[in-house]
Amino acid sequence: MALRQLSIVTIRRGIKPIVFVICLIPLSIAIARIFGLFESYIGGLGANPVESLMDYLGQWGLRFILIALLVSPLQKLMRIAWLGQFRRMLGLFAFTYVLSHFLVYLLLDQGLALQYIIEDVLERPFITLGMISLTLLTAMAVTSTNGMRRRLKANWQRIHYGTYVVAILGVWHYWWQVKSDIAEPAIYALITFLLLGSRVVFKILQKRKRQASAKDQNG
Ligand code: HEM
Repeated sequence: MALRQLSIVTIRRGIKPIVFVICLIPLSIAIARIFGLFESYIGGLGANPVESLMDYLGQWGLRFILIALLVSPLQKLMRIAWLGQFRRMLGLFAFTYVLSHFLVYLLLDQGLALQYIIEDVLERPFITLGMISLTLLTAMAVTSTNGMRRRLKANWQRIHYGTYVVAILGVWHYWWQVKSDIAEPAIYALITFLLLGSRVVFKILQKRKRQASAKDQNG
């Protein structure tokens, strides 16, 4: 199939820039809303602009974490090896959105009042979870370069397995702060469960295949 055999040039010069621009759309909408632009098309920030902005960026952060986790199963199901080249970009977008979510909290919601922030992190469990997942996400973003991958060797993979933990903590963080309607965090939880479950299934299938081919070779 032609899609499986796209050249590196087509991916690097054609598809990657398009995906990059698409990933910037939610951020551009957030910025337009801050400045009250195109309100009749994209809506505004409403009566509680800080909360609305924080929620919007948090939602996109979580969506990008899940989209980044979708790359591997898609790659295996569709047998398109080059999809793996988008994992880093998607992960870095997840980090950008979560960091913006955190910066809105830090600067606009808490006005950089460090004492209240520390109290919040220690006393409100959903904020503690958010901080843990942001810390893990930061470690992955900082070590995402090729140079770091080479330097860290096997530890690199260990750090980047943290994506699963970040997804679980992100959903948990969302679930915990919802007051009544849990429908949305429940949908994110189901998607996370399916994504992580698919990895377990692929691992089992891979192991069986290896065992079968070892048997063939021996017999
Ligand atoms: C991977 C890390 C994180 C993810 C994926 C994430 C995601 C989310 C999501 C999806 C929501 C709910 C949005 C909604 O109600 O529509 C939310 C709410 C919230 N998050 Fe995070 N978050 C993360 C880290 C953090 C951190 C580090 C902080 C602050 C220290 C934080 C503070 C908050 C607060 C205060 C709310 C509630 C906003 C409100 O009052 O509605 N989050 N987050």
